[in-house]
Amino acid sequence: MTVLVTGGAGFIGGNFVLDWLAQSDELVINLDKLTYAGNLDTLKSLSEDARHVFVKGDIGDKRVVSDLLAQYQPRAVINFAAESHVDRSIASPAEFIQTNVLGTFNLLESVRGYWQELPEAEKSAFRFLHVSTDEVYGTLSLTDAPFAETNAYEPNSPYSASKAASDHLVRAWHHTYGLPVITTNCSNNYGPYHFPEKLIPLVILNALAGKPLPIYGDGQQIRDWLYVKDHCAAIRCVLAAGRLGQTYNVGGWNEKANLEVVQTICQILDELKPKASGRYAEQITFVQDRAGHDRRYAIDARKLEQELGWKPAETFETGIRKTVQWYLEHRDWVENVTTGAYRQWLTQQYGV
Ligand code: NAD
Ligand code: DAU
Repeated sequence: MTVLVTGGAGFIGGNFVLDWLAQSDELVINLDKLTYAGNLDTLKSLSEDARHVFVKGDIGDKRVVSDLLAQYQPRAVINFAAESHVDRSIASPAEFIQTNVLGTFNLLESVRGYWQELPEAEKSAFRFLHVSTDEVYGTLSLTDAPFAETNAYEPNSPYSASKAASDHLVRAWHHTYGLPVITTNCSNNYGPYHFPEKLIPLVILNALAGKPLPIYGDGQQIRDWLYVKDHCAAIRCVLAAGRLGQTYNVGGWNEKANLEVVQTICQILDELKPKASGRYAEQITFVQDRAGHDRRYAIDARKLEQELGWKPAETFETGIRKTVQWYLEHRDWVENVTTGAYRQWLTQQYGV
């Protein structure tokens, strides 16, 4: 048996591949374009492992994808590949439309061509699992109920609009062609191998480097944080038992304001790696807000719990401590990802 994972050199995809092969011997074909966000260092422990085949390529390249499908005959495709950073989508949206919309479209077409020719038993067992985000639902006020699967899509950023478009394509390929799809919409992930353009790893690394900890606006925007390994477990669960054509919200029941998240990281660092003088929180700096910044995301994950029995194993308190510890212990991984392209982004976004 084989699965095809796309975007498996990124943050969540990388964790997914590592966790999958820690629990199963099923072959993983990992298709990743290796953009600035893709990093083979994350998969270093698999470099000699015959259960992992890495292929550098674009989900939008129909020839590459069709050849892989024909060669390896996977029973499932799990699609993580995407441009994923909201700030980059504001600065340069074109790549988001290219990969998240057109790339997903081309991937769906390649997969449909393969799936239609499968023998009946394989055809009905096949799954296309599309990994999406809670940001497609837009923004909430403090008193709104958390996002349920029945909420209307109201994306506000180029990133979330491109993900919403991809979700609609996936839905339509099921409704029109019968492709056996399932979509997951997850809240903010954090944990090992998180690229340091995102809030949590950026703050950990800036704190250790003695740099400012940039808080957009008033820092009272709320996100629901989920430890990445809990997300990977949810995806395995949905892949195994999710209902076809359904969407499942995935979340950690951990709503936190950004300022609180940053203060928590500072406190953990004060304890684990105290500064010679002063405290890390003194580095907190309020900077210009993100354009169109969504105020609050919150996920109602009851459908996934009630139908499939999934629940997060980590609380924010346990997960964030593990994460800070991981970054303290993996300075080599950090060195390798904070290359020229990363420094260029810091200059463009933060002027440092
Ligand atoms: P990431 O940016 O860390 O990784 C994306 C990976 O996709 C990279 O390895 C990159 O090289 C690859 N990629 C990009 N374009 C590609 C293309 N055209 N063809 C093949 N590979 C390509 O992203 P992530 O945070 O790991 O997110 C993975 C998925 O999960 C995305 O679809 C994202 O929208 C979704 N998601 C992320 C979060 C989060 O908090 N990070 C939460 C919910 C959903
Ligand atoms: O909700 C799920 C989404 O979570 C995923 O779909 C995205 O791929 C993922 O990047 C993440 O999006 P966010 O925009 O919420 O994550 P980010 O880490 O960029 O920002 C988290 C919050 O912190 C957000 O409110 C913006 C704020 N922020 C971010 C950065 C990078 C700051 O205040 N300062 C910063 O420097």
